[in-house]
Amino acid sequence: MAIPFITAAEAAEYVKNGDSVGLSGFTAAGTPKIVPPAIAEKAIKEHEAGREFRINMFTGASTNDYCDGALARAKALNFRTPYQSTGDSRKALNCHEIHYVDGHLSELTQNMRYGFFGDIDVAILEVQDVNENGEIVLGAGVGNAPTMAMMAKKIIIELNSTINPSIRGLHDIYIPLDPPYRREIPIYRPSDRIGSEVLKVDPKKIVGIVKSDNPGHVAPFTPADETTLQIGANVCQFLANELKAGRMPKEFLPLQSGVGNVANAVLYGLRDNPDIPKFTMYTEVVQDSVINLMEHGKCTFASTCSLSLSDETMDEFFKNIDFFRDKVLIRPGEISNNPEVVRRLGIISMNTALEADIFGNVNSTHVLGSKMMNGIGGSGDFTRNAYVSIFSCPSITKGGLISNIVPMVSHVDHSEHSVNILITEQGIADLRGKDPVQRAETIIENCAHPTYRPLLRDYLKIAKAGGHTPHTLEAALAFHEEFIASGDMSKTDFGKY
Ligand code: COA
Repeated sequence: MAIPFITAAEAAEYVKNGDSVGLSGFTAAGTPKIVPPAIAEKAIKEHEAGREFRINMFTGASTNDYCDGALARAKALNFRTPYQSTGDSRKALNCHEIHYVDGHLSELTQNMRYGFFGDIDVAILEVQDVNENGEIVLGAGVGNAPTMAMMAKKIIIELNSTINPSIRGLHDIYIPLDPPYRREIPIYRPSDRIGSEVLKVDPKKIVGIVKSDNPGHVAPFTPADETTLQIGANVCQFLANELKAGRMPKEFLPLQSGVGNVANAVLYGLRDNPDIPKFTMYTEVVQDSVINLMEHGKCTFASTCSLSLSDETMDEFFKNIDFFRDKVLIRPGEISNNPEVVRRLGIISMNTALEADIFGNVNSTHVLGSKMMNGIGGSGDFTRNAYVSIFSCPSITKGGLISNIVPMVSHVDHSEHSVNILITEQGIADLRGKDPVQRAETIIENCAHPTYRPLLRDYLKIAKAGGHTPHTLEAALAFHEEFIASGDMSKTDFGKY
């Protein structure tokens, strides 16, 4: 039986109040753009009629304004996991309008299969192609689509005509067995293909196909400034020194890189550094910079969960698909971020911190310990299992009113046990093999901004009466308290403790 074409509004009728809905994609790449806004419209109408309408939304990572944005504005979200990054959903979850569970991206699908999140009622998949046997070619981001499609009672397809058909063959779809039957994931090099080019779903579950011609849009990055360029240069210097010292194999190791301006500055720095050999990537997002590195012959392969490229770079990628075809695999987040594979391959992880403390604990998510920014994303998947884990951030923010190096982080995402290297524009703190006081001295002298070094030294002095990790608890969050009181952390006075 042919799968019917339906409108977005008809598709939205399949989604009921209280449903758990899974979306394909990872970042804006591969994420539906037509049906979620129709669900938001339905929610608004239901609310106007005095009826409750909220769904639980599961994704691969962040989405786009058509999903998190539109649904949050329509007050259509009850529960949300595992990551978001839009202003409207951030606002709603910080005032408890949305129950947000911030989790490691690689873990969500196995936890869904284990039954920790209940049933999935509907999966909405953006695809390049689908046939009557239920064989699907996904878009530029896979995310958690395979498990969602497997678990969902109903599947809605968004067939997007703007996705280049040459994408067929770039996907590597694989769902591991669950314990006690799980075997090793047989990836021994980033380029090892282990799964299928297409996602196979039960065609009987597909309730309809919605045509889409929405190309979506990936926002371009703001140009790197002096600080991000210096952070990038410091990361490159660290890696080059490690190679020279023989602490990394001369063939080098696969890199994982977070997203954003610092990540881009690091990648461009690697391109231009003659001491850095050619490398591969085992990462969750491929951005424009990686494509550029491939064109320069510096990056030879990237395993990823999404191609999150600007329109211009996406066009260039498909124009030269013969060059790129054997250099990219797009996999489910459970595989692109898999801790077992990260540990086996010896990934060098490079992620960004909101703040780090002098002992090496990192906060990636909560401003002043309370307000959620985005989420932990894949940073924990990679950091905890890396060959070497690197975190970077500027030493100060908001013109120096905030020090990103603090006595004690106001929220912990990555503990001192997982963080090996901390880098700011000021320098590099190598925390390996150092006890807490040695780490504190290294971080203060190498990473903190000169304005804040005396204050941090003062803190360490008053804290040293403490134990192995010296803290004076009433003063440990004094930077944050001072910022809340006066708007300037540099006014902190440790003399009163
Ligand atoms: N306290 C308060 N605000 C802070 C802060 C701090 N210590 N550090 C940064 N900020 C603010 C900045 O001022 C900026 O605010 P603005 O938007 O009003 O200008 C905002 O936080 C983002 O900071 P920015 O320096 O632009 O960093 P970024 O874009 O590189 O993002 C993270 C940094 C940590 C928010 C981001 O990397 C993230 O969400 N990480 C978690 C997920 C992850 O690591 N994924 C990795 C795999 S892709």
